[in-house]
Amino acid sequence: MLTLPATSALVLLWLGKDFYNSSVCTKYFNQLDLSAGEEILNQKYLNWPHFDQAMQSRKIIVQLFIKEFLEKINRPTQIISLGAGLDPLCLYLTSTHSNLIGFDVDIANLFEKEKLISNIYPKYKKQLNFVQANVSNPDEVIIKLQKSGWDKKNPSIVIVEGLSYYLTKQQNKNLLSRFKSETSKLYIIFEYLKICTETNPPFDQIGTEIFEGVKNQLQLPEDITRFSREEIQAIAQHINANKHKILCLSECCSALKQNNKIYQTK
Ligand SMILES: C[S@@+](CC[C@H](N)C(=O)[O-])C[C@H]1O[C@@H](n2cnc3c(N)ncnc32)[C@H](O)[C@@H]1O
Repeated sequence: MLTLPATSALVLLWLGKDFYNSSVCTKYFNQLDLSAGEEILNQKYLNWPHFDQAMQSRKIIVQLFIKEFLEKINRPTQIISLGAGLDPLCLYLTSTHSNLIGFDVDIANLFEKEKLISNIYPKYKKQLNFVQANVSNPDEVIIKLQKSGWDKKNPSIVIVEGLSYYLTKQQNKNLLSRFKSETSKLYIIFEYLKICTETNPPFDQIGTEIFEGVKNQLQLPEDITRFSREEIQAIAQHINANKHKILCLSECCSALKQNNKIYQTK
């Protein structure tokens, strides 16, 4: 059993332990003690009833993009999750797709994560790699990935989810640029927070209240990095992305034809 710090536990509680629908992931979740997050979950400032749906939608969208890319690529592919933390996305994908190689990159917790996975899925070693590196140093990330078996000539899908807010704008840009310059076939999924003026006022207020509420308890930085649509477009141009799409979560939810209760404004 691994006892998670409050911040990681809270995210996994919002997500729900049945989200990754595979027996390996269920066994993985059963080894996690999320009790540190439960206390925070019950705080008054977190009483927006749809937070779990918002978190799940984000993850569903990331997986839909991965699926779309995999259909386009149609040959063995590498998945790199930057700032993977304890999220079992790469475990889920590699244990359900035999032609994928996964790389979980993080500055912390990977030793513990690998141990949990080795307990329940001993054959992970063929497909899943754990790379401890600081993403604010992209050279270090690239070198360590290559040492772990990443082949920059083969197609790669890079996922930046739940990470961009903790890096500066320049660090985010350097990281993406470095991957683009290294890799011949690259697909990037970059999740970011919008600047407040681009969100609907009620959601801006909810987001701000939640952030202010959890900031001290979770020891989050004073300010988190947000991007405007223009800044994201500029990064896409800077890294010469051949094609790019910028979507907001509310559009994605509607596109999913879900009963979009989360993002109604009234
Ligand atoms: C909120 S978690 C996101 C986990 C997962 N990607 C998800 O979306 O559920 C953020 C993760 O980023 C990692 N992280 C933050 N700064 C980092 C850095 N400079 N280098 C590598 N990892 C970092 C943290 O250790 C943590 O595991």
